[in-house]
Amino acid sequence: MAPKPRAFPEIADVTETPHLTVVKHPLVQHKLTLMRERETSTAGFRRLLREISLLLAYEVTRDLPMTTRTIETPLTEMEAPALAGKKLALISILRAGNGLLDGVLELIPSARVGFVGLYRDEATLRPVQYYSKVPADLEERVVIALDPMLATGNSSVAAIDLLKEAGAGDIRFLCLLAAPEGVARMREAHPDVPIVTAALDRKLNEKGYIMPGLGDAGDRLFGTK
Ligand code: URA
Repeated sequence: MAPKPRAFPEIADVTETPHLTVVKHPLVQHKLTLMRERETSTAGFRRLLREISLLLAYEVTRDLPMTTRTIETPLTEMEAPALAGKKLALISILRAGNGLLDGVLELIPSARVGFVGLYRDEATLRPVQYYSKVPADLEERVVIALDPMLATGNSSVAAIDLLKEAGAGDIRFLCLLAAPEGVARMREAHPDVPIVTAALDRKLNEKGYIMPGLGDAGDRLFGTK
């Protein structure tokens, strides 16, 4: 008999739409639960985010173009699959994006790295840009924008706007948690940008925090308050 599906009412039971992929891998889900817990230390949170980012990077690069090349194994020659060599750029949306960056860079060490600094005006919840330094040739690269929390979507949309203005065409968005409001905002503004996340949570609260969420990702990552 097939096992009864488990219900997690705080987390939407979506796995994949054309615009959104929720990585429901048991390791990802277990590590995310540890990260959500209030008592998890800064060091633990940082380590878990790095570990999850490796697993999410696997998913966000799933459709990278492939080719084959002729190699020699110790036994014979073969046509072996290999990346077609499409260049990548990782864009960390500061500051919490840096928590995803290390793990993703470990898997893709040759990627170029850019940074976009946006802070959220707590009164309006609108993004204010204070820094931007991105690779010059974004139009030639697969661009992966990194931000653990897709909340209102305002800063994500602003960051993607900036990347498109800088020439990026093939952009993906990698986050740890998404709120339905942020996903809808991104879909409206940038329907061409697929989102990969570990969970789609219930909603935003009145302060723009994801519920049930994990709190302020930057504060938990860097031990600030
Ligand atoms: N940013 C965070 O760090 N946490 C949230 O819940 C929303 C935005």
